[in-house]
Amino acid sequence: MKLLILSILFVTLAVTTPLTSLQYKTKYGSVIQGDEPYTKAIAYKMYGDFLDTYEDLTMNKGDSYDRFEIFNDNMKKVIAHNKDTTKTWKMGVNKFQDMTDEEFKIYFSLDITSDDEKCSATASPRINYNGDTDENFSWREIRMPHSAKVVTPVKDQGHCGSCWAFSTIGAMESHFLITTTKYAIMSEQQLVDCAGDFDNHGCNGGLPENAFRYISENGLTFEGTYPYVGQDQKCKYDPLYKRITAKGPFVIEEGNEEQLVESIRHAGPVSVAYQVVDDFRFYESGVYSSNDCENTKSDVNHAVLATGYGVETGLKYYEIKNSWGSDWGDEGFFKIERDQNMCGIAVCNSYPLGVSSVYGKSGELIKN
Ligand SMILES: *[C@@H]1O[C@H](CO)[C@@H](O)[C@H](O)[C@H]1NC(C)=O
Repeated sequence: MKLLILSILFVTLAVTTPLTSLQYKTKYGSVIQGDEPYTKAIAYKMYGDFLDTYEDLTMNKGDSYDRFEIFNDNMKKVIAHNKDTTKTWKMGVNKFQDMTDEEFKIYFSLDITSDDEKCSATASPRINYNGDTDENFSWREIRMPHSAKVVTPVKDQGHCGSCWAFSTIGAMESHFLITTTKYAIMSEQQLVDCAGDFDNHGCNGGLPENAFRYISENGLTFEGTYPYVGQDQKCKYDPLYKRITAKGPFVIEEGNEEQLVESIRHAGPVSVAYQVVDDFRFYESGVYSSNDCENTKSDVNHAVLATGYGVETGLKYYEIKNSWGSDWGDEGFFKIERDQNMCGIAVCNSYPLGVSSVYGKSGELIKN
């Protein structure tokens, strides 16, 4: 009897445990790729599992069937895209599957452009780097001696237009590892709350270039000291807790992809911007390329971090770290076509110079 109750309990648990995003991908992979028919019955099953798997982000939890039609429309787009053999990239199901295009734009404050928030027209004086740019290169594969990989873990900006802060901090963390060999996770929230005097707008957008300028004047503290909350707050930064400094930034010449590649290879990851259009949010693998996006400075609406570049099935690409969580895209990363100024990827790029730590009296790096 005891055994029976126990096994019933186990069966119940197995049924109610939500699939991980990876398990979801495996379970429905052949439907998503268009190899198996997408029937109404499967659609309902996929939607039910989706609600459990991505419970944290579904738009209206509890009212489970309200968003089925949006999910269903998006699924049809994903499957049609994946069946199209001319496409250089694949779509998948992710946490944004039950949002409309409009809701998605609002969620991340995309498309908010203000006049004081423009990329610099002035490029920094050219740096002559020694050494080649290999055909393929990724900072994700580089580990500092006795320390962590140069590319720090992918973060999640959540429901806040703070991509610019994540792009900036991603660059700071990587350059800090390159210059000091030390691993430190730094504060996006400090930038969201405190970098407004440098033409940044918290959860309503900003620019890495402006955030680097703020850091070079004010310094930066650790994530643990000033944790991320994903909404605008009053600035709480105390310069007493300044732990990292930087100079610069170095601004890459507009449209110069040769300089962008050289910078990634010889300086470190670069904060880049581009235009997110509707199909992008479903990216899962391959080299993203689009006929729909525009590519001028006033079109770019999302800042990210270029961590590498290479060639895949004859297509040149940049490897990019996003800030939509590691369950989005390809482990939180994506590839986008290179040497075409694809979606404006070459027009608004910068990186910090002279990133270093602020030492305590004992000569040790102060941890929080
Ligand atoms: C670069 O990567 C591609 C795809 O993985 C590979 O085919 C190519 O041989 C690589 N190039 C070099 C020089 O290793």
